[in-house]
Amino acid sequence: MTRIAIYPGSFDPVTRGHEDIVRRSLYLADELIVAVAANQEKEPLFTIDERVELLKIALGDLSGVEVRSFDGLLTEFAREHKAHIIIRGLRAFSDFDYESQMALMNRQLDPDLETVFLVPALHLTYLSSSLVREVARLRGDVSSLVHPAVDEALRAKLGG
Ligand code: PNS
Repeated sequence: MTRIAIYPGSFDPVTRGHEDIVRRSLYLADELIVAVAANQEKEPLFTIDERVELLKIALGDLSGVEVRSFDGLLTEFAREHKAHIIIRGLRAFSDFDYESQMALMNRQLDPDLETVFLVPALHLTYLSSSLVREVARLRGDVSSLVHPAVDEALRAKLGG
């Protein structure tokens, strides 16, 4: 049986932390679909197409990984792609509140879906897309926290 997993998120933008979780997911899944959510209530910095493109560049060398966007319910997207595993990164215990709520809601919507939490490398545990955006907006150096293409895209978008 092919194990298909989905790693959903906003990825606004993808960071070295996300890349780390993708690599770790490949120990569990034969195929991983990185799913970029379009229907976010928050106004993203990057468009859905830009976020997908940056993910494709950042994950370019990995086989068994596909990047797609989705609109609507994650559980529907998972069903369409015959995935039974949802991957989420857990950085600090403070993430757990929101993450366990989402996992339980997704299980309510589809009992055949199992959420698996993965912990990133220790040196990446503080990293988030929102902090990267904030630092980049204030002209701080984020080059060690994101792929060079993302660093360039942030400069193009925000100046600097
Ligand atoms: O990176 P994020 O913003 O923490 O990711 C949140 C995301 C995209 C995984 C979540 O909002 C989601 O699954 N959105 C799709 C719509 C949906 O299914 N909502 C119900 C979630 S319980």
